[in-house]
Amino acid sequence: MTYEKIFHDIYDDLKAVEDIGQVADYIPELANVNPDQFGVHLTTVDGQQFAFGDADERFSIQSIAKVPAFVMAYSWIKSEIWQRTDLEPAGTAFNSLVQLEHDRGIPRNPFINAGAIVVCDILVSVLASPKENMLSFIRRLSGNNSINYNPLVAHSEKKTGFRNYALVNLMKSFGNIKNDIDIVMDLYFNLCSIEMSCKELTQTFLFLANNGVVPYSGEQILSPSRTKRTNALMQTCGFYDEAGQFAFKVGLPGKSGVGGGIVAVLPEKYAIAVWSPRLNKKGNSYKGMLFLEEFTTKTKLSIF
Ligand code: DON
Repeated sequence: MTYEKIFHDIYDDLKAVEDIGQVADYIPELANVNPDQFGVHLTTVDGQQFAFGDADERFSIQSIAKVPAFVMAYSWIKSEIWQRTDLEPAGTAFNSLVQLEHDRGIPRNPFINAGAIVVCDILVSVLASPKENMLSFIRRLSGNNSINYNPLVAHSEKKTGFRNYALVNLMKSFGNIKNDIDIVMDLYFNLCSIEMSCKELTQTFLFLANNGVVPYSGEQILSPSRTKRTNALMQTCGFYDEAGQFAFKVGLPGKSGVGGGIVAVLPEKYAIAVWSPRLNKKGNSYKGMLFLEEFTTKTKLSIF
């Protein structure tokens, strides 16, 4: 089976579908992207690579970065993390405030904004230089030292991140943020500003398809059991109030970002990333979701 042929076929089919999505513009810097770009990349656990379109073009990975941040905190404080965030699907928008008041400042899961902000608070507590340490961790996962923050995007979001400041203040009022809010939010906004290509995303997430081991370095990042649990969280919480749809239609653990990227893994087999900047109403890539649905249908491979 050649994955590249399947990529071409699906892309051709999707050309006929009008892209009714919209580029994220609530972070002003993200509105500058050319919305017609489209890339796909797949890396198998044994190192084969398959690319299509703008697979080497870097973009803002946004919430996709919540996964490596969670993995770093999880590997530091282990199951203590569940005292600070729950692990249930939220069924609400990624930046919703309503549930957080009801749940007394404990986010439903680490992949909604509130959960990732708590993860950043944990990292600020345990790391000597949180921004540098987190970047080097992500570089180790990807095997790529050129991965970086985009300060323009981080600054743009800091200036307009009113809902995220509301979330962190609410959690602070319940005692679930231990550090200075500005330091925590600086880490959060930088985390979201990381840029990667589809190819780099597949390489960064490949350890989750490989029982927690980075294939290029042999480094064990998470135990097989915690890897399984991280994949379960991506499956149930990776797409916010569309996690059910993604499980139903695609059937892979994955994570989306408002930059239009989606990464997903098939354990023991591969990591795949798609990038198409226009988003549906839930903040997930409109054509990216359609592409992955067709991909797992045509290959007859998913976790279900
Ligand atoms: O905090 C935010 O709103 C963004 N930096 C990240 C949101 C995001 O990517 C949601 N994903 N689909």
